Amino acid sequence: MSLIFKRKSIRKYKDKKIPDDVIENLLKAGMQAPSACNAQPWEFIVVSSDEDKRAISKMHKFATPAAKASHLIITLGNLNESKVHGMIEQDLGACNENILLQATYEGLGAVWLGFHPIEDRVLKLKEYLNIPDYCIPFSVICVGYPDSESEVKLRYDESKVHFDRF
Ligand SMILES: Cc1cc2nc3c(=O)[nH]c(=O)nc-3n(C[C@H](O)[C@H](O)[C@H](O)COP(=O)(O)O)c2cc1C
Repeated sequence: MSLIFKRKSIRKYKDKKIPDDVIENLLKAGMQAPSACNAQPWEFIVVSSDEDKRAISKMHKFATPAAKASHLIITLGNLNESKVHGMIEQDLGACNENILLQATYEGLGAVWLGFHPIEDRVLKLKEYLNIPDYCIPFSVICVGYPDSESEVKLRYDESKVHFDRF
């Protein structure tokens, strides 16, 4: 099975730092994603200080995994770089999934924390990280060495598949 079938959200991490070259591999994977007109309208903020991770973990009630992650990768959509109106979310979705798959490949655990389009979450993150108005903080990806085990459940559901017409 491919990496896709091994990936799952991991929310508990060992107290061990991920080396810089591995973080760079995650960023390379993110930037390798497809995007409308190949605009590559993304920016990234890598956060590793305990103080910042704690602050971000308190920004909403499902953001707690951020506190103990080795690093946070904040993925931003740069509206000035986007070439096709309304497609930036799809571009960033592909970018995020690439990072999660690369994290699986590197033996890391990761979880995608949703921020955009929930306004209060977006505003908190923008203010805390000095993000300019032309960038949308799309999500926070927590990464670290996994400290929990769980089985991946396969989700293939034939009833969702339609041939030729709905
Ligand atoms: C757009 C989006 C937002 C998410 N937000 C959160 C979040 O805020 N906190 C969290 O713990 N998990 C979050 N997740 C992870 C989902 O809960 C997880 O992907 C889902 O339960 C399926 O589990 P799996 O990733 O292990 O396959 C988010 C995932 C997506 C795609």
